[in-house]
Amino acid sequence: MILKKVLFLSLTCMLLAACQSSQKEEQKTSIRIGISLYRGDDTFINNIRSVLEEKAKEYERERGIKVTLDIQDAKGSQNTQNNQVERFISLGCDVLCINPVDRMDASVMIDRAMAAKVPVVFFNRQPVEEDMNRWDQLYYIGVDAKETAVLQGQMVVELYKKQPGAVDLNGDGVISYVLLEGESSHQDSLIRTEWSIQTLKDGGVPIEKIAGGIANWERSQASAMMEQWLDAYGDTIELVVSNNDDMALGAIDALDREGIQGVNVIGIDGTTPGIEALKSGKLLGTVSANKELYASAIMELAASCAMKGELPREYPLTDGTYYWTPQEILIHELED
Ligand code: BGC
Repeated sequence: MILKKVLFLSLTCMLLAACQSSQKEEQKTSIRIGISLYRGDDTFINNIRSVLEEKAKEYERERGIKVTLDIQDAKGSQNTQNNQVERFISLGCDVLCINPVDRMDASVMIDRAMAAKVPVVFFNRQPVEEDMNRWDQLYYIGVDAKETAVLQGQMVVELYKKQPGAVDLNGDGVISYVLLEGESSHQDSLIRTEWSIQTLKDGGVPIEKIAGGIANWERSQASAMMEQWLDAYGDTIELVVSNNDDMALGAIDALDREGIQGVNVIGIDGTTPGIEALKSGKLLGTVSANKELYASAIMELAASCAMKGELPREYPLTDGTYYWTPQEILIHELED
C-alpha cells in the first residue's frame, strides 16, 4: 500500500514538472524557436508570421531573454518540412512551431520531436487527434471552424433581415449563390462550408446554390473559377460565399474584369488585403481571427515550453492542448 502511494505521488510530481523548471536548472537567457510554414506565400499565414515576429521582439524587450526565430518555408512539401524539423533539432531548438503541410501526416515530425524531447506548438493546420494525444508536449493553436462559419452565415442573415433587397438583388425571392472552398484535406474547409450554409438556412435566408468548387485557398484559382461561373450564369449570381478572404478577392478580381458591380462577396480571415477590400466596399464582410492573440498565444506558449516555465494563463487551453483564438465579424456598412 505504501509503495503504491509513493509510486502514485512520484508520478504526479513528474506530470506536474512537465514544462516547469527543475529548481536546480539555471534560468535560460536565450531561446531558439524553429518555425516551419506550410507555404510562405499564403496570405493568412504571412499575416500571422509578421505579428509573431513583432511578438518575439516584444518578448525579448520585456523579459530580457534573447529570442531567435528560425523561420523556414516548407513550400507545400511534407518531406521538406520533415527535413526542416530534423535540422531544427540538430541546431538545438528549444521548441518547434509547426504549420503542417499535411495535417494527416504529422507523425514523423512528432516522432523526431518526442525522441529529442522538444515540445511542439502546431498551428492553423490541425493534426489528427490520435497524433495530438501521443505526447503531453504537443499543442495546437487555431480558430474554431464551426464558430467561424456560423459567424459568416450570421452576417448575411442579419443583413437579409434588415435589408432583404441588399441580398436578394433581383428581387425574385431566392438568393442564388456560388461557393468557393479551400483545400479538401484542411479541417477548416468542410466545416466552414457546411456551417455557413446551414446558418443561412436556419436564419431563414432563401438560398439556392448555382455552383461551387475547390480553389485551394488561392486567389488566382478562385478568380479563374469565378470567371467560368460568370460566363455560364452571368448576373444570376447574387452572393459569393468563400472559405477565406484570398479566394473572395479572386472572385472580386473576376467581377472587376467583367465590370460587374453589386454582387455580395463574403470571406473569412480578416487578412490585410481582405480588410482593404472591405473598406473599399468590394468585400461585404469577413470573419476576422484576432491576429494579435493568435500570434501572442504561439509566442507565449512556445516560450514557456522553451523556458520550461508555467504555461501562460491568459491563453486557456482546452484539454490542456488546444487554444482557440477569438474572432469577430467585420462588415461593410451598406447605405439604407
Ligand atoms: C485560412 C486560409 C489559409 C489556410 C492555410 C485557413 O484557416 O482561412 O486563408 O490559406 O488556413 O492553412
